[in-house]
Amino acid sequence: ESITIALIIGSLRKDSINRKFAEYVVSQMPSGVTINEVNIADLPLYNQDYDGTTIDSYERVRQQLKAADAVLIVTPEHNRTMPAALKNVIDIASRPYKQSVWADKKVAVMTASPSSYGGINSGLDVRKSMQMLSAQMMIRPEVHLSRATDSLNEDGSVSERTQKYLQKFVEAFVDFVAIADSRDADSNN
Ligand code: FNR
Repeated sequence: ESITIALIIGSLRKDSINRKFAEYVVSQMPSGVTINEVNIADLPLYNQDYDGTTIDSYERVRQQLKAADAVLIVTPEHNRTMPAALKNVIDIASRPYKQSVWADKKVAVMTASPSSYGGINSGLDVRKSMQMLSAQMMIRPEVHLSRATDSLNEDGSVSERTQKYLQKFVEAFVDFVAIADSRDADSNN
């Protein structure tokens, strides 16, 4: 059985620590899982006036997210909330009205920050938006990597301790996607 997961990285910068943790998480996915990264760097700021028009980059991300069985968001925190680029793709994919891709979508979020709070406010604000959009959020485990630069080795690889922690997150996420899928199948009987 194959599963497609859309990956959104909330940081646009080349040396993003969140990207490094995301890459490790992706490397730990079991066979049968396909990861499809959603590029959010080229998306014009969402404007409701665009709803009646076709913007290629908007269509691309909406299709990518729609086709995915689940969405994994790995993001930093900017000024105590999610980065604008991440909020932008959430808004774009929530519209036009009644064509949101988020309804019933399985979503997990993890955050990383050099600070001691681990970007938790960003993660909680993603949950807040996803609740409003009727997505199915994975509740546990909550992964907000604090002092995250300490969890990266000099070559950018993830420290052994954090690897173990992230492996548990991957297991829980894959279970979450698979269990929710079988529930969907049951409800069709
Ligand atoms: C930050 N940073 C930050 N960190 C945090 O834990 N809480 C915050 O509110 C903020 N605010 C903030 C605002 C802006 C505009 C920037 C650029 C940065 C620091 C941030 O966690 C740090 O730059 C991380 O390295 C960003 O993650 P990436 O880009 O490395 O994945």
